[in-house]
Amino acid sequence: MCRTKSKLIMIKTIKNSKDSEVEITELMKPINSNFSGKIHGGYILNLMDQIAFACASKYSGKYCVTASVNTVDFLNPVNVGDFLTLKARVNYVGNTSMTVGIRVESENIQSGKKTHCNSSYFVMVAKNEDGSNAEVPKLHLYESEDVRRFIRSKSRLETNKLRKKTYSQESFDYKEHLDELKKYNVHIDPKLLD
Ligand SMILES: CC(C)(COP(=O)(O)OP(=O)(O)OC[C@H]1O[C@@H](n2cnc3c(N)ncnc32)[C@H](O)[C@@H]1OP(=O)(O)O)[C@@H](O)C(=O)NCCC(=O)NCCS
Repeated sequence: MCRTKSKLIMIKTIKNSKDSEVEITELMKPINSNFSGKIHGGYILNLMDQIAFACASKYSGKYCVTASVNTVDFLNPVNVGDFLTLKARVNYVGNTSMTVGIRVESENIQSGKKTHCNSSYFVMVAKNEDGSNAEVPKLHLYESEDVRRFIRSKSRLETNKLRKKTYSQESFDYKEHLDELKKYNVHIDPKLLD
C-alpha cells in the first residue's frame, strides 16, 4: 500500500509464472494399478489435483479450492514401476481464480524412456481465512510463451462459458436438434417427435 498526497493506492503484488512452478515425481506402485498392471486414471487425477493445489497456493499465498477441471485425455497408459512426474505452473489469472497447466510424464526406470501421459488445466480459486474468495497477484508475462499460455487459457474459459450458456436448461430447445440427431447412433422416443 502506498500513500500519495491525498490518495491511498493499493499496489498489487506482481508474480512470475516461474514463481508458481511445482514438480513432483512418484514411483507407481502395484496398489494403484488395475488387473493389467496399468495405473488407475483416478489415482493420476488425484495427484494432478494435489499439484494444482500446491501450485495455486504457492502463487497466491492462500489456500485454494478446485473450481473446474478441463478435459483430461489419457494419451498413454502408465505402468507399475514407472516414475511419474507432474509439472505445474500458473498460466492465467483472473481476480480470484488461476488456471494451472499440468503436464504429466511417465519414465521407464530401466530404459529411461519418457512418455507424455496427459496435459490438463485446473481452475483454482484462492480463499481467505473467512472462506471468501481472495484476490490473486497480477501475472507478469515475461516471455512470448507466457503470452501464448495466457491467451489460450482465456480463450478456453470463454469457450466454456459460451457452451454453458448455449446448453443451459433454460435456453436449450431440443426440438431444434431432432433432425440433426437422425444421423447418430440413437433412437428418438416417438413422444419427443410429437
Ligand atoms: C468455485 C467457487 C470457489 C466459486 O466461488 P463463487 O464465489 O461461487 O463464484 P464466483 O462466481 O465469484 O467465482 C469466483 C472465481 O472463480 C471462477 N470460477 C468459478 N467457477 C468456475 C468454473 N466452473 N470454471 C472456471 N472458473 C470458475 C470465476 O470466474 C471467478 O473468477 P475471477 O474471480 O478470477 O473472475 C465455489 O463455487 C466453491 O467453493 N466450490 C467448491 C470448491 C470445492 O470444494 N472444490 C473441491 C471439490 S470437492
